[in-house]
Amino acid sequence: MKTVLITGSSTGIGRDTAIHFQQEGWNVAATMRRPENETELNQLENVQVLRLDATDRESIISAINTTIETFGSLDVVVNNAGYGLAGPLEAVTPDQLTRQYATNVFGPIYVMQAALPHFRAQKSGLFINISSIGGRLTLPLNSLYHGTKFALEGISEALNHELNPLGIRVKLVEPGGVKTDFAGRSLDLMSDPNITDYDEIVQKVFEAFRSPSRADDYSTGADIAEVIFTAATDGTGQIRYLAGNDAKQMWEQRSAITDQQYVELMAKNFGL
Ligand SMILES: NC(=O)c1ccc[n+]([C@@H]2O[C@H](COP(=O)([O-])OP(=O)(O)OC[C@H]3O[C@@H](n4cnc5c(N)ncnc54)[C@H](OP(=O)(O)O)[C@@H]3O)[C@@H](O)[C@H]2O)c1
Repeated sequence: MKTVLITGSSTGIGRDTAIHFQQEGWNVAATMRRPENETELNQLENVQVLRLDATDRESIISAINTTIETFGSLDVVVNNAGYGLAGPLEAVTPDQLTRQYATNVFGPIYVMQAALPHFRAQKSGLFINISSIGGRLTLPLNSLYHGTKFALEGISEALNHELNPLGIRVKLVEPGGVKTDFAGRSLDLMSDPNITDYDEIVQKVFEAFRSPSRADDYSTGADIAEVIFTAATDGTGQIRYLAGNDAKQMWEQRSAITDQQYVELMAKNFGL
């Protein structure tokens, strides 16, 4: 029986992924910041709910060790925990900047570092890092979030070169829009009341983001969980998995034009 550890399993993609793997007969370490609030996942057979805060290295090491002790193996690690930070970069506070990179970039690195001794010993293992279509292309007022996902993409692709000879793989799943808490409770906003030059840009861009029709093409967390499961089980060396029709369309459009044409397209789409 195979074992998967998933970060950020309290809601959204992580939670649906935990349920999907469990239904497929896997052992699941469903990790989250506040396991004491979980009432459902811990009722499922072969699921262990563990504390893991992506910004707390001790909790990462402890969750990985407990998973191996409990299930006797660890085959796949899904780095899913993450959140968005939006607004003008100039308004970011040091705490916001630190937390964004600590969660979306340093967290996955520490998780991989903690799992690697085990993966090396068994000469196999797979990391699936949840990036975003925003790890391939950018939208206005999301510079720092894109920065984290571009970083995760580069780290994952490069790391794969050094791990493949050891029997270990790294893959990326890149969702488009997903109907989760991502754009609600999880979203952090940068704004400085003393800087008004961005007000009109912020208003236009956020209005476009909030338009209800934008969500028509969004995937569900369960759709993304299916892609993650495919990445875990297809036995291929494929690195990137675009997830969702919107993500595939956006990439098709982006890859067909130059950087300069894309800048013009964004300006037109958002009225900038
Ligand atoms: N939704 C989208 O449109 C979308 C698109 C592309 C990529 N993604 C990526 O998909 C991943 C999951 O997001 P989602 O859409 O499922 O959003 P979500 O419902 O807001 O879930 C985010 C999860 O990350 C957890 N988390 C946040 N900070 C954490 C930390 N320090 N340690 C451990 N867990 C932490 C949250 O836990 P708490 O409950 O404790 O807050 C929650 O379980 C993220 O990496 C996101 O960047 C999402």
